[in-house]
Amino acid sequence: MYAVMKITLTKPFILRCFLVCLFLSLPFLFFYLLFPQQQQPFHHSVTTKDLTIRPGYSSYQSYIQRQLNKTLNPRLRKIWTTRDWDRKIPVFARFFNDLRDKNLLRNTSKALCIGARVGQEVEALRRIGVADSVGMDLVPYPPLVVEGDFHNQPFRNDTFDFEFSNVFDHALYPQRFVAEIERTLKPEGVCVLHVALSRRADKYSANDLYSVQPLVELFNHSALVHVRTVDGFGLDTEVAFRKNGPTHHHHRL
Ligand SMILES: C[S@@+](CC[C@H](N)C(=O)[O-])C[C@H]1O[C@@H](n2cnc3c(N)ncnc32)[C@H](O)[C@@H]1O
Repeated sequence: MYAVMKITLTKPFILRCFLVCLFLSLPFLFFYLLFPQQQQPFHHSVTTKDLTIRPGYSSYQSYIQRQLNKTLNPRLRKIWTTRDWDRKIPVFARFFNDLRDKNLLRNTSKALCIGARVGQEVEALRRIGVADSVGMDLVPYPPLVVEGDFHNQPFRNDTFDFEFSNVFDHALYPQRFVAEIERTLKPEGVCVLHVALSRRADKYSANDLYSVQPLVELFNHSALVHVRTVDGFGLDTEVAFRKNGPTHHHHRL
């Protein structure tokens, strides 16, 4: 006992402080080991009254996996490329014809369809004469659809004249979904979204939208062109935006 005390007393002051601190922190250490913290909920960027992110995704990977589970389903892919092919293309073609009539789309437009799955909407664009159109989805479907995540589009800034999407509800990060559209659209390029406002979209949706207002706020480098009612495979509202031109200045009120 005397020997131990002697050693302790001859130790430098700092070392003694360290040992005291270590001793005092032991209860906290045990507590942490016995009750590990709950996994932090996966953090989402925007949630407002009219745009809510659905809970339940523990990681980005689990969100992507859930989307892939459906898109890669061989039985469904067969249906999408056969029975659905002839049923849906004329409907998309009508929407795009209307947009061309409104001068929001031209035959010379370079067009992108976001979340295009097997590319029915791309085929519709090509059939009405918008030859330079391509789709993007997590799963590619050559030659109509290239692989890409809409949260991080595989395209350079200012690439497209026109972007269409009916999958806004699948965005886990709506802010990124919109920012990527505004990044890859050319100045004065047009984005048209089909969204569901009056009914809930499908069980693979990652967010719920209750009004156009959150979109207007997210598209903060664009102007709202129109909002109209459509009947688009369960989606009831078409919202069109035009990205600001190079000489656009924000006017403060
Ligand atoms: C409801 S489907 C719409 C398919 C197509 N637009 C149509 O109307 O036939 C949603 C599509 O979005 C795709 N998707 C989901 N999350 C995505 C992401 N993060 N990036 C790109 N595509 C995504 C899915 O793979 C799926 O093909």
